[in-house]
Amino acid sequence: MSNETPRRTFAIISHPDAGKTTLTEKLLLLGGGIRSAGTVKGKKSGKFATSDWMEIEKQRGISVTSSVMQLIYNDVQINILDTPGHQDFSEDTYRTLTAVDTAVMVIDSVKGIEAQTLKLFKVCRMRGIPILTFINKLDREGKEPLDLLAEIEEVLEMETYPMNWPIGMGKTLRGIYSRPDKKIEVYNDSHEREIIPYDEQHVLQDFEKERLEEDILLLEEAGNEYTMEKVQNGQLTPVFFGSALSSFGVQSFLNNFVKIAAEPQPRKASGELIEPASNTFSGFVFKIQANMNPNHRDRIAFLRVCSGKFERGMEVMLSRTGKKMKLNQSHSFFASDRETIDTAMPGDIIGLYDSGNFQVGDTLVTGSERLIYEEMPQFPPEKFAKIMAKNALKHKQYHKGMEQLVQEGTIQLYKTPYFEDFIIGAVGELQFQVFEYRMKNEYNVDIEFTHLTHELARWVTKGEVTDRMTDSRRMLVLDQQKRPVILFENDFTLRMFQDKYPDIKLSTGWEILE
Ligand code: G4P
Repeated sequence: MSNETPRRTFAIISHPDAGKTTLTEKLLLLGGGIRSAGTVKGKKSGKFATSDWMEIEKQRGISVTSSVMQLIYNDVQINILDTPGHQDFSEDTYRTLTAVDTAVMVIDSVKGIEAQTLKLFKVCRMRGIPILTFINKLDREGKEPLDLLAEIEEVLEMETYPMNWPIGMGKTLRGIYSRPDKKIEVYNDSHEREIIPYDEQHVLQDFEKERLEEDILLLEEAGNEYTMEKVQNGQLTPVFFGSALSSFGVQSFLNNFVKIAAEPQPRKASGELIEPASNTFSGFVFKIQANMNPNHRDRIAFLRVCSGKFERGMEVMLSRTGKKMKLNQSHSFFASDRETIDTAMPGDIIGLYDSGNFQVGDTLVTGSERLIYEEMPQFPPEKFAKIMAKNALKHKQYHKGMEQLVQEGTIQLYKTPYFEDFIIGAVGELQFQVFEYRMKNEYNVDIEFTHLTHELARWVTKGEVTDRMTDSRRMLVLDQQKRPVILFENDFTLRMFQDKYPDIKLSTGWEILE
């Protein structure tokens, strides 16, 4: 891949089972990025998706960690960052979204917008990145297309602009009408792509034609105005209907994607906007993964290149510490296959071998100016557990493992004042399971969990805290930086606390999303 090839870096967000993995595979096939279209769900089929490689993923047949995939299409290099879905949900998913320029939201036409889509959507919204919508499973009897658009507009508070329009659905699906070029992509059982100009079409019956014409007229008259500007600032989402499983509408989606998706964007570091074209190389670590391949016991830091050119062996500075280092071991990833990468451009994701230097959120930069990319937002955990090593004699490994896994960002760690009990916090239950698995497999420590009923964490930003603030429904703890945090069971106990202690100011650590 040439350094001049334009880059487009995106992630797919969806609720589980909406069809994210199927769509990803079909996109990779179109770009020649995958050799066979192996089915995805490990549990059922015994095969694994290209993006599922960790042992725990294989066991559960899910995708736990985000991997990176690439395809070349119409002379554009497309970098896809895989994100886990719902039950598998964790902070990784959120963090991955900080490294992309565009998001694709997959919605199941039968179910509409689901809980997890909404959560992920909010993170994209916070960053103001363009969001393209793919409404999937048109081969099934789904909700009415207009209702789906209305749902997106209402729930996500975003304008929609259908780029194509379904002609029928489920058993009566005939095709999709592409609005920009006024052509019909015909739906057929052979899954061969057949595109005909609307005027020359012979597949629609009169009533279907009438219905389509009415729909189009309605969209023209009552629909939103499409501008690239609205798309680029995340105000309007172009909507594509299709069926990933039948490869229907996928190629036209991709044709449009390469035109619409944002190019690598300038990003803020130390108060200034850093242009991708800058001569200075810079990037940030959005994820650290240990033990990616059991054959190589190592850690890999995933870095998003933001500006300049990465060259293997180059000397960079870790801005947090000012330490200089040579980046000799850099990889690109195609799921578990790693290839040494010699150069990388803005928008690319590279994996750097890490012997314990990096933390999530770290900036690497050439030159002497200690640029720091905007802090990775702290994602408010929703699940908490008190933990102990089952075997007290293993305390050394226990502390080492915990320190490393916290540093990687696998979980968040808190301590109670005085007794110094360890409390871990996570966005999703799966993070606990990954933590438990890795403590056992990598550090040989069995962990005992006591799940807590608390669901909210609030940082105390103003006011005196006292040990009286802990009771059966709330708990005072200290975070890694020894900042006081109060864990609450629910909104009600939070409100009670606020009434009782009006001088204490609390923050979610992520107010921007509230
Ligand atoms: P996910 O990554 O978002 O979780 O979804 P995934 O692609 O794994 O798809 C979830 C299920 O939906 C899969 O079924 C898949 O075959 C199916 N699917 C994906 N796209 C389409 C489509 O366009 N039309 C239809 N009808 N189905 C689609 P599965 O896991 O094999 O079986 P099951 O869940 O249906 O039992």
